[in-house]
Amino acid sequence: MNTNKHVEQENVTAPNRQNWGLIRRILAYVAPYKTTFILGLFFLLLSTATTLAIPYLASQFADITTIPAVEQTTYLQRVGLLMLGVLVLQGIFSYFRIVLFTIVSEKSMADLRRDIYNKIISLALPFFEERRIGELTSRITADVTQLQTAISINLAEILRQVATIIAGIVIILMTSFRLTLVMLATFPVGILAAVFFGKYIRKLSRQTQDALADSNIIVEESLQSIQAVKAYTNEWYEAKRYKNSLDHFVAIAIQTSRYRGLFVSFLITVVFGGIILVLWFGANYVKDGMMTIGELLRFILYTGFIGGSVAGTADLFSNLQKAMGAAEKVFGILDEKPEVQHLTQQHFPPINGNIDYQNVVFHYPTRPDLAILKGISLHIEQGKKVALVGASGAGKSTIVQLLMGFYRPTSGSISIDNRSITDYDLTALRQNIGIVPQDVVLFGGTIAENIRYGKPDATNEAVIAAARQANAYDFIMGFPQGMETMVGERGIKLSGGQRQRIAIARALLKNPNILILDEATSSLDSESESLVQAALEQLMHNRTTIIIAHRLATVRNADQIYVIDQGQIAEQGTHEQLLQHHEGIYHNLIKLQFEHA
Ligand SMILES: Nc1ncnc2c1ncn2[C@@H]1O[C@H](COP(=O)(O)OP(=O)(O)OP(=O)(O)O)[C@@H](O)[C@H]1O
Ligand SMILES: [Mg+2]
Repeated sequence: MNTNKHVEQENVTAPNRQNWGLIRRILAYVAPYKTTFILGLFFLLLSTATTLAIPYLASQFADITTIPAVEQTTYLQRVGLLMLGVLVLQGIFSYFRIVLFTIVSEKSMADLRRDIYNKIISLALPFFEERRIGELTSRITADVTQLQTAISINLAEILRQVATIIAGIVIILMTSFRLTLVMLATFPVGILAAVFFGKYIRKLSRQTQDALADSNIIVEESLQSIQAVKAYTNEWYEAKRYKNSLDHFVAIAIQTSRYRGLFVSFLITVVFGGIILVLWFGANYVKDGMMTIGELLRFILYTGFIGGSVAGTADLFSNLQKAMGAAEKVFGILDEKPEVQHLTQQHFPPINGNIDYQNVVFHYPTRPDLAILKGISLHIEQGKKVALVGASGAGKSTIVQLLMGFYRPTSGSISIDNRSITDYDLTALRQNIGIVPQDVVLFGGTIAENIRYGKPDATNEAVIAAARQANAYDFIMGFPQGMETMVGERGIKLSGGQRQRIAIARALLKNPNILILDEATSSLDSESESLVQAALEQLMHNRTTIIIAHRLATVRNADQIYVIDQGQIAEQGTHEQLLQHHEGIYHNLIKLQFEHA
């Protein structure tokens, strides 16, 4: 929290120029709907004008005493009917104002949400490792909602209030100049208060938002791993964590409300103090014959309107300030540099697949002090099979993640076909690599959609063929809905081995020149494993393949085996060559596995 406070301080003292920049960026999202927006503004003005006409007409009732007795009945009738007519018009105008502004805000904010999402998914992996997922989703949900409220309600309301204030002042000036001066004398006090409190309220409300986001993250994270929570019977722990976080949020929210409360009540006191003053002076003017009762009534009614609008505007401004806080965060994400530039499907020429690692040293961005790879050099010829073996945590998965371009090596270089991978378009690079990862996560959707993820334009026949080759077809057809079975969050749960076979089918369908199998057969029983192994052999044929496996039976046929130990290549050679080293790690691994079998 301390670090948070520090950030707040910086933001509060940030120049106002930044706010204008934000406003311009928000308006850029409204711009495509400006016709609707301007029409909305038009109705806003009309509805404000009609609202303001009502007290004017009401005060005319009071001036009945100034009308000759014979005309009084028609006079009252005329004023009454006029008021009813204005009321009906006011209703119609308000309807259109609300609907039009909602159309603009919903559409423009959907555009903004789409842009944020597109930006987020195009960012590089380190971005996601430095942030919590809950934090990112709240950018799209809560923060954008706040902006939306600002555009659809706050902005329109402020315009309405300002129009009311201006028109009100013009009307009271015309009614009584001297009384207006009395009324306006109370204004500077209110404005000073707004400047003074506004600063604190903005700072606190930003902290409130952050605190709420923090507690939402706890909900999200614990629900995502609800199985783990239950397995460890840690419901009490999560409950406590959430309670503490909520308490913190409530404490800040209440503190914010203290300032807001002080601000609003102070303002109301000033405004009503002003009205009392006006009433006092006004009654004296009526007594001295300088005003009619109707004029005083009109003056008081409009002063009330103006006062209400001033108080309302202050509250609206603090809401707008909140929205500015949200906008700052939202545009912060939009300003991140994307990893992938194009979000459309493109086809690049295939890569042959001669892979070369030269002295690659790597630190994960989240742990810059710890070298995970300490000078890896390896060469994989086109179409050959290379296996990486070694203890858990040795750095095997990291080696292939660098090949995918998920991260950049800290030093050293990786090249494919004699060209550094940093020179490749990332889309082109990844299109040529198929990966069956260590833990397969399926997307919410059908099995067919999940297989087709490797090649969105594949035919049904190709999908079925891939499923057959991956030895997945039989279990898929065992489900009543077959290929159309829903999997993922709301669908059925597949076993680890079943998910792996779906991933193999996905890679088969993609048909890449470089294939990465990270423990691709780890979740399969012996029988499925030999069947999938056969499919994999076929898949690996004529492709550059990197196999990562703990079960050494699966790497025996590799052209070259690299034994990775604590981020370094400890041994390399074919299965037979490595077995010659009786003191070697590989020999030891084989011996251990043999003993366990
Ligand atoms: N995203 C990450 N951020 C920070 N550190 C990481 C990240 N991924 C892995 N590591 C660390 O890097 C080291 C190597 O991890 P890696 O996943 O490459 O091991 P591995 O050889 O594939 O192990 P296993 O056989 O268990 O899959 C580990 O110490 C791990 O803690
Ligand atoms: Mg791994």
